[in-house]
Amino acid sequence: AKPRVFVARRIPDAGLNLITAACDAEVWPEQLPPSPEVLRQKVRDCDGLVSLLTDKVDTELLAAAPKLKVVSNFAVGVNNIDLPAATARKIPVGNTPGVLTEATADIAVTLLLAAARRLGESATDAKEGRWKTWEPLGWLGCDLVGRTLGIVGMGRIGFATAKRLHHGWGMKVLYTARNPKPEADAELKARHVDLDTLLAEVDFVSVHADLNPTTKGMFGEKEFAKMKRTVVFVNTARGPHVNQSALANALRTGTIFAAGLDVTDPEPLPPDHELYALPNCVIAPHIASATVDTRNAMATMCAQNLLAGVQGRPLPNCVNPEVNGSR
Ligand code: GLV
Ligand code: GLV
Repeated sequence: AKPRVFVARRIPDAGLNLITAACDAEVWPEQLPPSPEVLRQKVRDCDGLVSLLTDKVDTELLAAAPKLKVVSNFAVGVNNIDLPAATARKIPVGNTPGVLTEATADIAVTLLLAAARRLGESATDAKEGRWKTWEPLGWLGCDLVGRTLGIVGMGRIGFATAKRLHHGWGMKVLYTARNPKPEADAELKARHVDLDTLLAEVDFVSVHADLNPTTKGMFGEKEFAKMKRTVVFVNTARGPHVNQSALANALRTGTIFAAGLDVTDPEPLPPDHELYALPNCVIAPHIASATVDTRNAMATMCAQNLLAGVQGRPLPNCVNPEVNGSR
């Protein structure tokens, strides 16, 4: 019999067709995610699961799926998955690294420019009739050329973002990372520093760290207070990196200049959230990987991880490869 799999949302055909050709697949047809209860029922007899970042894969879910051989996440980030619990069950977890690096770096730069040049605010003003004339003092933003960029988390995406801004705008680059990145130092003359140094010296902060217990809430009142008052803050990583009420305060009181966010906590933010009321905050609905080519590539990679898992082969992209040694 074909392996049984549950696919927790419709994903691009580039991946879905590979899955349905090899598996007995059920695809969740709704726009919104299955509830945790429904997800637990759906995986009961499954060998494989395709999860999204909106699906919590926790001990309860794993316990409800005694036959599960693989979790293939349709994302590079895996903070929706309890990795130690999956590893304890010897279930490999797949993700989609690399293929969304460039699209995500594009959105980081898009948000950085939009926030620096007040695009959200000014475009809304134009549309809503507040554009009265060409104003010498209207909608003044800040320049990028020659300024200093702070990359928090110099992985693939941080590096791709820094390349764009260094080569395109001549920005100096400081970064934090667990280890120095010699490629970044060589290609971008980037400097590996601690977070306090970065916060004190840069004009732009772009967050690319993964979300884990040590990075959760890493941007709070103290961190915003250490930044220059002209700073533009950009987050394309995960919402919980940021204490949002501290960010809202910093934006309201001019502690920093502006923010551009592709991620929030929760997602979506309620429409009456205080961040939406701030003209110097531009918020995108988690669209960093949302290009046709990138989502197709993610779907293909996600399918390949799933198929490898249900067929008992090592996943091409596995975040807990230690499960293989012990099988
Ligand atoms: C999206 O946020 C991802 O992790 O792929
Ligand atoms: C994610 O792909 C990263 O390493 O930045």
